[in-house]
Amino acid sequence: MSTHTQISPFAFHKIRDYVYRTAGIIIGNDKTAMVTGRLWRRLELYGHTTYEAYFAYVSSNEGAQERATMLDLLTTNETYFFREPAHFDFLRDEIIPQQRNNKMRIWCAASSTGEEPHSIAMVLADTMGKGDWEILATDISGKVLDHARTGVYRAERINHIPDDYLKNYCRRGIGEYDGMLAVVPSLRSRIKFELHNLLHARQGNEQFDVIFLRNVLIYFDQPTKQKVIENLMQSLRPGGWLILGHCESLHGLNLGLTTLRPSIYRKPVASATVLRKLAV
Ligand SMILES: C[S@@+](CC[C@H](N)C(=O)[O-])C[C@H]1O[C@@H](n2cnc3c(N)ncnc32)[C@H](O)[C@@H]1O
Repeated sequence: MSTHTQISPFAFHKIRDYVYRTAGIIIGNDKTAMVTGRLWRRLELYGHTTYEAYFAYVSSNEGAQERATMLDLLTTNETYFFREPAHFDFLRDEIIPQQRNNKMRIWCAASSTGEEPHSIAMVLADTMGKGDWEILATDISGKVLDHARTGVYRAERINHIPDDYLKNYCRRGIGEYDGMLAVVPSLRSRIKFELHNLLHARQGNEQFDVIFLRNVLIYFDQPTKQKVIENLMQSLRPGGWLILGHCESLHGLNLGLTTLRPSIYRKPVASATVLRKLAV
């Protein structure tokens, strides 16, 4: 088995279809090399000689664990601390000062390995101190969440963390942890990591002040985007903020959110329907 093992159009279609149905992620028609490049070692591990055989295993009852692994391998988890820093400035300078009750609930809805919720936590700790703030960080991948919960990163990942945050909220590893960095427990304890698929609405009626949904909509088509945002809106309080990645937008979707900046939206305090009813 090697990276050159061919994937048949049938197996490629099956795998793409599974990823789309499960996670909403579109794998382009031209991505056969990406799929085989990421999965061939799995075929080798299980001794399958074709992608059909591998997919048949993945679809079987015994293949449940491998289904999750396949999904992990086919999703893109790239992230880093203080990615797209303007959003963290907006949180500090615009959102937090408007929060009158000194309480903040933030949902980081595709948090990958945790650099994003830990960056948010640093801003909240710096501005709100021991105030009443909490972060929910979710992802579809259990593997990235396991990493995120450790709060431990390779030191070369830290170059975007402002110096004073690095000093106050991170510790450099020594001995066997040399070259690593750990986020301090007082910050980690404010973040709850949870498995969650954006294709579904979150259970319960917890309401968030801000939802970060960055660099994941790019993998979805328009109907999936519409569904994902509608799901999230159920958990965003009226007047709450939705923050997307810089190259993402809600263009062409029908959601009734107010655009504040190209990637920053606000949920109206009262929905148009309520306003219409009040006017009657
Ligand atoms: C490129 S990372 C973005 C991480 C972070 N938000 C950032 O901007 O740096 C995309 C993340 O979205 C997650 N993801 C993809 N599809 C998802 C879905 N349907 N539900 C929840 N998370 C999903 C992936 O597992 C991955 O960790």
